[in-house]
Formats: sequence, structure tokens, C-alpha cells
Amino acid sequence: MSIESIRYQYPKPPARPPLQYGTLTLPSRYLLSPLAGFTNLEFRLIVRELGGMSLGTTDLVNARGLLHGNEGTRSMIETCAEDRPFSVQIFGSEPDIMCQAAQFLENYGVDAIDINMGCPVHRITKGGAGSAMMCQQEETVQLVRQIVESVSVPVTVKMRLGWDDQQITSPEFAAAFESVGVAAIMIHGRTREQGFSGNVNLEGIRKTVEAVKNIPVIGNGDVRSIPDAGRMFEETGCHGISVGRGALANPWIFRQLGEWEETGEYGPAGTFLDRLNLLRKQFAYLERRFSADHAIIRFRKMGHWYLKGMRVRKRLRGDFQMAKTREELNAALVVIEEEGPVRGTKDGILPDPHIPVPSGPVERW
Ligand SMILES: Cc1cc2nc3c(=O)[nH]c(=O)nc-3n(C[C@H](O)[C@H](O)[C@H](O)COP(=O)(O)O)c2cc1C
Repeated sequence: MSIESIRYQYPKPPARPPLQYGTLTLPSRYLLSPLAGFTNLEFRLIVRELGGMSLGTTDLVNARGLLHGNEGTRSMIETCAEDRPFSVQIFGSEPDIMCQAAQFLENYGVDAIDINMGCPVHRITKGGAGSAMMCQQEETVQLVRQIVESVSVPVTVKMRLGWDDQQITSPEFAAAFESVGVAAIMIHGRTREQGFSGNVNLEGIRKTVEAVKNIPVIGNGDVRSIPDAGRMFEETGCHGISVGRGALANPWIFRQLGEWEETGEYGPAGTFLDRLNLLRKQFAYLERRFSADHAIIRFRKMGHWYLKGMRVRKRLRGDFQMAKTREELNAALVVIEEEGPVRGTKDGILPDPHIPVPSGPVERW
């Protein structure tokens, strides 16, 4: 049986009106979650081309760095006509800086602005940003109100359930954010203390969904397959789903979600050879923005995910990571293509890859 004829089935979710972020109508209810170091312009384009993805968001951008014209920060917000609708996620804790950054982004032409309130990394929380914002409700809601009032594009918030199990504050925050004009909330169903350990808490997401009246709540965490998405909708009542690591492991997941919602059936993820083509394409897109040497360095993190997903032998993955020139990179890919996956075939369904998470105590990330 050819891979094209394979169809999986799963009961489709109830039909719903399109997702609205204020006046912005999103093309689907499946969003790409920001992943620092991965969800750059090139990856967003790759996933969009495969179909089904709605809003793409940059990973977290330092509001102050943006205003200072920091070159690295500015390159994080680069976009193009095919990369729409498009949102930039900012972090910071100073109201003036956050408002000015939001205004800068509105003038730049973004479709929405997202405020990071979920990042557990000490480097971010020590200055009162990221998930630390969930510890000071009044100041945080006030800050968000100011940002909402300083721009006319939709402002959204991405947060966790709370700081720890004793402080599950996302429902109160969600209600307060709705009252100050936030257009949507994305909720990762873990606490800051949890980091990425344990399973996503669907009950916690549901309470957050129930706390708002009109704005959409996007459920996030551990969605790697259609059954995971089915459970997320069913158990939380969320209006949309955002996928992070699942999209790195399977860039076809948005297309699968779209097919499933439409028909209750969906096709398999791409083969080893499909993934190799995507890898080459994403690298070629990077070379449109950066020199080959620079693109090789920037592509290492992403290349690791592609090759793991392709089930490439460890030694060959190492050779790819060691490549310093375009020639060495091409040579490594030729060997990888010749050898194929450790398990599975070049043109068949591959076994699911293990999805690693940032590990170790949250304090030391
Ligand atoms: C490597 C990595 C980087 C991340 N970077 C960001 C980020 O920049 N901004 C953010 O709001 N969340 C970030 N997250 C959290 C994800 O957006 C998402 O909430 C989390 O991974 C759970 O969803 P998932 O199981 O679909 O990956 C990151 C997660 C990982 C694993």
C-alpha cells in the first residue's frame, strides 16, 4: 500500500465559528507555539507551506533590545508576505518600554502582539518578566492594560497555570486580562515550577477557559497527535490549540489537524525523504537571509530535530553537526540520504521520535 493512500480516523471536533482575535479572523484554529531558537521565519514558512497552520509567532523578543535597534533582536522579527498572519512575542516588565515596543511593532506591520508571561527561565524571571509576572497580579494587569491601550492591533497573552501548585492564578488573570481588552489567551497547562516535567494539566486549562466570557483561549501543551488534540478540545473546551515541540517532531501536524477537523480523517506525516527535502528547503531559505557559514551555524539546532525525526544514525547526525562549509554539509546529507533511517524505510512511515525537553532545575536554565 502506498503511503499516499493511508488515512487515519479520529472523531472530528464539533464545528465552531472561525477563531477571532479582535477583528482579525484566523485561517484555522491551530497555532504554532513560540519556541526560542526554532520558530524563526524559515521554519514558519516551511510549516505554513505544508498547510493548516494559522498564526505564527516569533519566539520571545526583548522589548528593550527591539527599541535599541539591536541587530540580533531585529532579525528575530523579520517576516515576509507569505508569513501571515504573524505575531511577535515580547517580554519585559517596564511599562514604558513594553508600550513603545508594541507601538514599534504595530508600525512595523505585525498582525498581533503577544506578551510572554510563561517563560520560566531565571534569566527572564529575575527581572520580573516571563512567568514572574504571574506573581504580581495588579502590576501585571495594569501593564497589560497600558499595552492594549497603546496600540490598535490585537494584544494577546501567553501564560502558564501559575507559579506553582499553590498558586494556580491563570483563571483570575484570564478574567482580568479580558476586562482590560486582551484579544486572546494562550495557556500552557503547567506551572512555572513544573518546567516541562509531568503531563499537561487539562483541568487547569479548562478552569482558565471557563474564566473568560468572550475571548478565545488557546490550549497548549503536549499535543503531538490528533488524539492529543481531540482530548485537548474535549476536556478543556478551548477554542484553538497551539503546538510547539510536536511541530518540530512533525511539521505536518497542522495539515493533519486541518484535515481531521474537516473530515475526521487525516494522512500520515512525511517520510524520511520528505523530511530530507524539507530540511534542504529550510536551509535554502536561511541562505536567502544569511551567508552560508552563518546559515550553517544557525541551522544546527533545527537540523538536530530534522535528523532525529528522520531516524538518522547518531554518527551521521554528528557529521552533519560538524559541517563548517556548504560542501561539508552537502556531503553529510548525501551519506544520510544513501543510508536512510535506522528504523523504517526511506519512503514509508517513520516511528515517532523521542521529544526531548529542556531539563534540570528551572532555576538554572
Ligand atoms: C526549546 C523551547 C523554547 C521555548 N521558547 C518559548 C518562547 O520563546 N516563548 C514562549 O512563550 N514559550 C516558549 N516555550 C514554551 C512553548 O511555547 C510551549 O508552551 C511548551 O513547549 C508546551 O507546548 P508543547 O508541548 O506543544 O511544546 C518554549 C519551549 C521549548 C521546549
